[in-house]
Amino acid sequence: MTYATSQIDDGAQFVKSWDRSDTEERPARPVQQSAPLLETRNARMKKLLVDLEPIAMSDSTALIQGESGTGKEVIARFIHLSSQRHRGPFVGVNCASLPEGVLDSELFGHERGAFTGAVRQRPGRFEMAEAGTLFLDEIGSAPLRVQLPLLRVLQERQYERLGGTRTLTADVRVLAASNIDLEQCVKDGTFRDDLFYRLNILPVRLPALRERPEDIPLFIDHFLQQTRSATGHAVEGIDVEVEQILRSYPWPGNIRQLSNTLERMIVLSRSPRLGVVDVPVEILHWRDDEELIALGNGVTYWEARSRFDRRFLTHALERHNGVVSHVAEAIGMSRKNLYARLDNLRIDVQQFRR
Ligand SMILES: Nc1ncnc2c1ncn2[C@@H]1O[C@H](COP(=O)(O)OP(=O)(O)OP(=O)(O)O)[C@@H](O)[C@H]1O
Ligand SMILES: [Mg+2]
Repeated sequence: MTYATSQIDDGAQFVKSWDRSDTEERPARPVQQSAPLLETRNARMKKLLVDLEPIAMSDSTALIQGESGTGKEVIARFIHLSSQRHRGPFVGVNCASLPEGVLDSELFGHERGAFTGAVRQRPGRFEMAEAGTLFLDEIGSAPLRVQLPLLRVLQERQYERLGGTRTLTADVRVLAASNIDLEQCVKDGTFRDDLFYRLNILPVRLPALRERPEDIPLFIDHFLQQTRSATGHAVEGIDVEVEQILRSYPWPGNIRQLSNTLERMIVLSRSPRLGVVDVPVEILHWRDDEELIALGNGVTYWEARSRFDRRFLTHALERHNGVVSHVAEAIGMSRKNLYARLDNLRIDVQQFRR
């Protein structure tokens, strides 16, 4: 960790506080609970990590934007743990996962009798995050109705519980995250512009993993190491071809998808070293699929389908040395239908026999 440890006492303390971080949205699996990788070879990420130091030191609102799985929550926790508030709680609230009409009471709390079913007074997340950090995840999904009181609490630090008359003061640092483009939401009229500017005082834009492919080998090492210590799997490493394949894949699910893919490869692999056979087919052949979809420009659906079938069936015949019964079983098709399709596509099975 080159930069990351400079602003916290030491790495060990960081790991410790990471593990005990007081959030309701703790990652579910032990593999993902350990300290994150905050090392990078990517110029844009280097700049971002350098900027995180003053961001952590400041108490202003930061808006973390990036595609799903790029590590927005990871960065939010890091900012909290590197800030003056690190001894206080880190409280998360996902604005998209709560049923309609519940978010305001979740954020601001409610008094007894505020609405049907409010049998006792309940503190909101602002109160729970007192002296710490409140992480407003998926803020783009907050309904307009809640955006106004949110703006007020961000501007004036003041709010009331639902059904209450007493004004409370929030000593809370707010971090917000969104994987949808909030500027676009402002243009579409679903997000208040004044709230957007208030949140976006310190903008943090996380690049997609495909925009930082030089970091993929670092993440691979990191996740292999994590899996080794968390599960005891005797995974030694990966073949160089696998690294190349994983580097060139576009990772629509970003770091989360890479982490999950490696975990799946490790669990299913028969060898302690991951080879090309362990790479999931959708990753191995994604380029083929892309080309096929692009074909839509000039060919009919039937032509594209035939090309797909040809590619799919020849791959399967290669894998099974031209043994039609094995292919039929592997791809879930009857032998009769498979023979008919091969005949139709004029694929000669003899050429695949070894
Ligand atoms: N720097 C990192 N080091 C190690 N793991 C990381 C890092 N960044 C992200 N991850 C892992 O990737 C996964 C996704 O991270 P996170 O939840 O922070 O992404 P996100 O941007 O909030 O995603 P979403 O938009 O879907 O909520 C998690 O399992 C996390 O542990
Ligand atoms: Mg998230």
